[in-house]
Amino acid sequence: MFSKDFIFGAATAAYQIEGSIDADNKLESIWDRFTKNKKNVIDGSDGSFVCDSYKRYKEDVALLKELGVDVYRFSIAWTRVIDENNNPNLIGINYYVNLCKELIKNGIRPIVTLYHWDMPQFLMDKGGFTNDEIVSYFEKYTDIVTKALNGLVKDYITINEPQCIIFMGHDACLFAPGIKYSEKEILKAIHNLLKCHGIATKVIRKNVENSTVGFAPCSRPVIPSVKDKELEEKCYERYFSLDKNDEYSNTVSIYSDPVFLGDYPKEYYVQFKDSLPNITKDDLELISQPVDYIYQNYYSGNYYSLDKNNNLVKDDFYFGHPEGNIDWLQVVPETLYYGPKFLYRRYKKPIIISENGFCNVDFVSLDGNVHDPQRIDYVKRYLMELEKISKEVPIKGYFYWSLFDNFEWNSGLRKRFGLVYVDYRNGTRIKKDSFYEYKKIIKNRGL
Ligand code: GAL
Repeated sequence: MFSKDFIFGAATAAYQIEGSIDADNKLESIWDRFTKNKKNVIDGSDGSFVCDSYKRYKEDVALLKELGVDVYRFSIAWTRVIDENNNPNLIGINYYVNLCKELIKNGIRPIVTLYHWDMPQFLMDKGGFTNDEIVSYFEKYTDIVTKALNGLVKDYITINEPQCIIFMGHDACLFAPGIKYSEKEILKAIHNLLKCHGIATKVIRKNVENSTVGFAPCSRPVIPSVKDKELEEKCYERYFSLDKNDEYSNTVSIYSDPVFLGDYPKEYYVQFKDSLPNITKDDLELISQPVDYIYQNYYSGNYYSLDKNNNLVKDDFYFGHPEGNIDWLQVVPETLYYGPKFLYRRYKKPIIISENGFCNVDFVSLDGNVHDPQRIDYVKRYLMELEKISKEVPIKGYFYWSLFDNFEWNSGLRKRFGLVYVDYRNGTRIKKDSFYEYKKIIKNRGL
């Protein structure tokens, strides 16, 4: 059982579900541009239709209501709410006003993500996060949104998965904009992105009464393979370290220390001393505006052990280890035990799991239903661990990713994470078995 104020939710993001990418004066986003090159997405698909949520938001809300969620986490498309002169685009804003009203009418609390990766292309053309001006653009954007949704929304997530924005978009170049940055440019972009988080927090506090704010990084926890004090201690250290040889552990503290602890980790200044931007006291103060929650997107983790010399080593997954239908999604339920445990130990704030979900091979069976036992099993295993740790750590919520199957970035429409199946030819929705199971879990307020 979770605490009384625990919130169950489902999450989505604008580009992944809305479609109607040219409607109502919407500007071009970096994902609109990126997907024009069909080679950038494995099936050549794009966000032009997907779940058609821009037109069918009432149906979406009806599904959420049936599911019984307390909250719905969705994102705003920056490109819908401003015009090319950076002034409000009232007709685009109206979509979100209507969506929020519909949610509230149905007893569902909206939680808004301001930035889930779809930057206006014209800002990318000015340098995106490497251009210092991005901070004032984000300030204005936040001002427009919070004023438009005043009285409807009080809970905001500023930025989703900063690590993916920077790494996938600018280093691996698998996500939009797909522009390779130098180390110097990357560090500049990280700093400006964190400043965007800070300025947005300030604006939200100013414009929204009783607001809550957080940002939502992702991470892949370093998990002790057996219960052992020394091993756990070393896992904790590694999770927050800047170990260059560990692709998974070196991005937690870079993004979260400045926000929660007021500065980058000491090793950051040493390791990157030749590439750092100018980091001022004022910047750090801005970045570390008090926030209410540690939001975190958790899907998978890695097990670690101690070798003969007591050094921490990453375990290989055994052949056939359970995994989802996407290469990075190994089933590691302890992710939701050790992840929150370690985060809370370092940052000491209540935690909300802002995304967790499973990619399955889903299709409509002969009986007309979509059976997804693996997804059900995944959610239960993960929630069991979350329930366990919630006895030690204040865990305040869990949002399943995603309400629907949707546009899974460079994996296009081939990867399905939804509780609801979507036929992308016409937008038809079919509730999967996992929809009904999650509904039961919510009704029982736990497993
Ligand atoms: C996250 C992302 C979501 C979604 C999910 C499943 O990284 O925030 O937009 O795509 O992963 O891959």
